[in-house]
Amino acid sequence: PSPPMGNLKFGNKKLPNAIIVGVKKGGTRAVLEFIRIHPDVRAAGTETHFFDRNYDRGLEWYRKGYELCLLVWIYRIAIYQSSPNNKKRMFTLCFHLSFRGLMPRTLESQITMEKTPSYFVTKETPHRISVMSRNTKLIVVVRNPVTRAISDYTQTLTKSPDLPSFQDLAFRNQSLGIVDTSWNAIRIGLYALHLENWLRYFPLAQIHFVSGERLITDPAGELARVQDFLGLKRIVTDKHFYFNRTKGFPCLKKPESSGSPRCLGKSKGRTHVQIDRDAIEQLRDFYRPYNIKFYEMVGHDFKWE
Ligand code: A3P
Repeated sequence: PSPPMGNLKFGNKKLPNAIIVGVKKGGTRAVLEFIRIHPDVRAAGTETHFFDRNYDRGLEWYRKGYELCLLVWIYRIAIYQSSPNNKKRMFTLCFHLSFRGLMPRTLESQITMEKTPSYFVTKETPHRISVMSRNTKLIVVVRNPVTRAISDYTQTLTKSPDLPSFQDLAFRNQSLGIVDTSWNAIRIGLYALHLENWLRYFPLAQIHFVSGERLITDPAGELARVQDFLGLKRIVTDKHFYFNRTKGFPCLKKPESSGSPRCLGKSKGRTHVQIDRDAIEQLRDFYRPYNIKFYEMVGHDFKWE
């Protein structure tokens, strides 16, 4: 029997075949926005946080949260004749869910993707993803952990301007060079440690590492490797990018949805907070052994030293 028209036209919501699992401030938005211009890729627009914060909602929510939510909402209003306040609350929740648990509709030939950078550092995530499918392809965008920490701090500072100084947070005792590894901005950069956890559930060949640095200097080169890894034809090429001098970053000539050029938003490519050279040197020393271990594990030197 022929499939219903709806399916022909829009395809079905599917669980992701590939996930950008990290790292925060590595360049994850850039990779997702760049790969999704590929005609065989469809991606969830916002970070779903399914495997870390919303796991209890179940895989069906992950796949099609929006529809489920809409149904529940209509049901509530119809059956309970909710008070206006309740309706408002339900609508807000629904609106929230609709952008959280939303997989896009895909055709059979297309792959589904999402990105949630906190997955890389969440202990439970590798196991949970492997339970969904052991074949899930994983992408990690890595960046010099010192720069990453400063980028992370700069972002937090825009939300909480009263934050203590970077040095106060990064060091337990700066004169002794003792780094506070419990601070998230530092902990996230211990890539080798987090990777060990992933390798308990996934073979290395199923994890692709994008260089956050090269993503800026050679986006087409990095995207070629991502497409190879995903088994896609190399359709996203240097023809799609141009360097925007005002932004100081590569931008897309022609994005998926409209015909006009587009750069990432203001929160991507911020000017970093100035950190004194001594602190940077100390952090470089701190990360060096972890970086070297990471290079050995993945078989690639990211040249952060
Ligand atoms: P900065 O704002 O510190 O420069 P994420 O999307 O994972 O949060 O990563 C944000 C980082 O992506 C930015 O950090 C920026 O350096 C990097 N990036 C890589 N390519 C980019 C691009 N084409 N436009 C803007 N930012 C890009």
